[in-house]
Amino acid sequence: LKRIGVLTSGGDSPGMNACIRAVVKAGIGKGIQVFGIEDGYKGMIEDRIRELTYTDVNNIIHLGGTILGTARSEEFKLKEWREKAVANLRKLQIEALILIGGDGTFAGGMTLTNEFDIPIIGIPGTIDNDIHGTEFTIGYDTCLNTVVEAVDKIRDTASSHHRVFFIEVMGRASGYIALNTAIASGAESVLIPETVTDIPLLADQIRNQNKGIRSSIIIVAEGDEEGGAKEIMKKVKPYLETYDLKCSILGHIQRGGSPSAFDRILATRMGVKAVELLFEGKKSMMIGQIGRDLVFHNILEGTTDHVSKDDSGIGLLKLLLTKG
Ligand code: F6P
Repeated sequence: LKRIGVLTSGGDSPGMNACIRAVVKAGIGKGIQVFGIEDGYKGMIEDRIRELTYTDVNNIIHLGGTILGTARSEEFKLKEWREKAVANLRKLQIEALILIGGDGTFAGGMTLTNEFDIPIIGIPGTIDNDIHGTEFTIGYDTCLNTVVEAVDKIRDTASSHHRVFFIEVMGRASGYIALNTAIASGAESVLIPETVTDIPLLADQIRNQNKGIRSSIIIVAEGDEEGGAKEIMKKVKPYLETYDLKCSILGHIQRGGSPSAFDRILATRMGVKAVELLFEGKKSMMIGQIGRDLVFHNILEGTTDHVSKDDSGIGLLKLLLTKG
C-alpha cells in the first residue's frame, strides 16, 4: 500500500478534522502518501484531489466543520460519473479510501468496492448517531453539549416568563439527539420518531407537570411523526388555550463548534485504526465503538435501516417523567 485517499461526505460533524488529522498522521507514519478529496464524492468526480502533509493537518484538531469540505452528490449515484471518479483516483494511483460520513457515504463507498474492487474503510461521522454497529458517531457528543447549553439558556427565560417551549433538534429519522439532550437538560417531555406521539396526552402532561408553574421544556425531534416543534405547538394549542407557548428551532448551530474531548478521542482512534485496517488488507469494513472498544463490521451493517440501538434512554426517560 503506497497511496490512499480520505474524504468527508454528507452533513459535516464536529471531530471530522480530528479524524482527517489522525488518518494523515498515521498514514505518513507508515510511509504512505495520503490524498484529501475535496467535497466528498463531488470532488472525486471533479478531480479535486490533493496530497495532505503534516503541515496541512497541524492545528486543526480543535476546529469544527471539515477542512476538506463536504457535499451530498447526486451525480455519484450514476455509474458514468462513478467511472469518471475512479479514473481520477487511478490517475493518482490511489489504491484505497477512508470515508468519513454517514450511511449515504458508506453506500457510495460500497459501490466502489463492488464495481471497481477499491478497498474502503468507513468511519461513522454524523451528529445524528444513526449508524448501526457503533454506539457513538463522531460529532454526536459535541452536538449533545451544544443543544444542552442552548436548552439551559432557553429554560432561564422560559421559567421567568412562565412559558412552555417546544425546542426542535436535528436527527432526521432518529431520536438520539432529542432523547439524550432531554435527559441531560431535564426536559419535561420529549417527542421522538421511535415512539408514538399522542397530542392530547402531551397536553395533559404539560398541564400536570406545570402545577401552577406553567413553564416546561419539550424537546421535539425533527423527524417526529406529528411534525416539528412548530406543528406540535399548533396541535397542542387548542388543549392549552391559556398557556403561553413558544417554539425554538435550534438548526445548524447543532452541527458546528469545536469538538468535545470525547469526539476528538473517538475520531483519532478511529482514524488511526482505519489506516491499520487497510494495511491488514481489509476492505468494505466500517469501524464502530462499543463500550470503550473499537469494533469492525462489514460496511453493509452501517447502511441497514436505522432502528434504535438500545432503548435504555427511553426507559430512563419514562422513569424520570413519571416521577415528575
Ligand atoms: O445528517 C445530519 C443533519 O444535520 C440532520 O440532522 C439534518 O436533518 C440534516 O443533516 C440537515 O441537512 P442540511 O444541512 O443539508 O440541511
